[in-house]
Amino acid sequence: MGDRLPGDFRKSTVDERRHMVAGAHPGLDATAFGRDDEMVELADVMVESSVGYLALPLGVATGFLIDGERVDVPLATEEPSVIAASTYAARIIARGGGFETTGGETITTGQIYVEHAAPDADQRIVAHEERLRLTVAPLLAAMEARGGGWRGIRSCRLPDSGLLRLEVDIDTRDAMGANLVNSVVEHLRQDVEALSSGRVVMAILSNAGTRRIRRARIAVPVSILARGGVPGPEVARRIVLANDIAREDPARAVTHNKGIMNGVTALALATGNDTRAVEAAAHAYASRDGTYRALTRYRLDERPDGSRLLRGELEMPVPLGTVGGAIGIHPTARASLALLGDPDAATLAGIAVSAGLAQNLAALTALVTEGIQRGHMGLHAERVAWVAGARGEERRLVAAAMRARGEYGTNAAKEALAEVRSQGGARKGAER
Ligand code: MEV
Repeated sequence: MGDRLPGDFRKSTVDERRHMVAGAHPGLDATAFGRDDEMVELADVMVESSVGYLALPLGVATGFLIDGERVDVPLATEEPSVIAASTYAARIIARGGGFETTGGETITTGQIYVEHAAPDADQRIVAHEERLRLTVAPLLAAMEARGGGWRGIRSCRLPDSGLLRLEVDIDTRDAMGANLVNSVVEHLRQDVEALSSGRVVMAILSNAGTRRIRRARIAVPVSILARGGVPGPEVARRIVLANDIAREDPARAVTHNKGIMNGVTALALATGNDTRAVEAAAHAYASRDGTYRALTRYRLDERPDGSRLLRGELEMPVPLGTVGGAIGIHPTARASLALLGDPDAATLAGIAVSAGLAQNLAALTALVTEGIQRGHMGLHAERVAWVAGARGEERRLVAAAMRARGEYGTNAAKEALAEVRSQGGARKGAER
């Protein structure tokens, strides 16, 4: 443990903060907090007390066919198998006609909780909707010009406390809308207190995202699902069974849905979105009937010609934006959106559920056939090779040798590296 950092840490410059951190923690290399000056400055603009930025891998999962369009999907993740798994499943799904997405509302809901409200406050508030709408009209003018804006107000009483709860729906179009909706509900505070004769406890958006539900559906001929010596129809049967288990057993559902979020969150991160909002909405939706369940459904379908299809569906809230927040100022987020063809928020949400469903199909296919470790360890090999000191082309040669032997420990990597070097292989790559 090093010394504590001073209380006025946040008031210093990034360079000063780095010095303080390095001084308090001998041996710590503060340049590891990022070496790109522009990114260091941007990080300082984005958050308080910044010392730099974290660089994560960003890759592109190729081969998605979504609503008839070819899409390559940028994913930011530290997990080795996510991009490979997405690409694998996207190709299989494309052979079955691709993803079909539906839904696409872009409404964010703000909540206002009121204590000591008069018995008829609910009706009074709703009867005065026009007054409330006009109060916040200046805040919503720009959003209205973009086709969004006020979409209504609802009231109810919380069952236990009897508190009055108001919900204001705002169509925030391509923005996730957190700042705008928070401003709107805070701005309504005075009017709500006057109309309800109560006191506003708090006013904030809801992250439930239930007016941002997106669905992706796939239909894959079972014949193309064969894997690891297991015939396609049997793989399909086992996928349905695995999904049924995750609908019945909450402890398995958590892992199942985590796999879905491997795709959804990685896309949210690549595009500069609020990953916690997406995660919170997804997990709340997974437990909407009182039990935490898989977000996906699968079934087998027979076609008139006797051939069979595996039908899969993912339905979940996807509160993603394509403007505002970090999205507009982070160059990587902007490049990711450009790679996607600058989609609107509803289209991006459709891509997210497709990425989630692809991840899930890939995970279930591996789990019910050869298991997950085989693919994972194969990808993990390059990391172990890196840790053992292999660089450039050496890294690939060492990983290939480890895969061939089926040995993935550091010692195996060191041995393979010594062998590669003794054979004089890959010197060029290592020097690069
Ligand atoms: C690993 O990141 C994700 C999986 O565990 C998902 C699943 O079990 O369905 C493979």
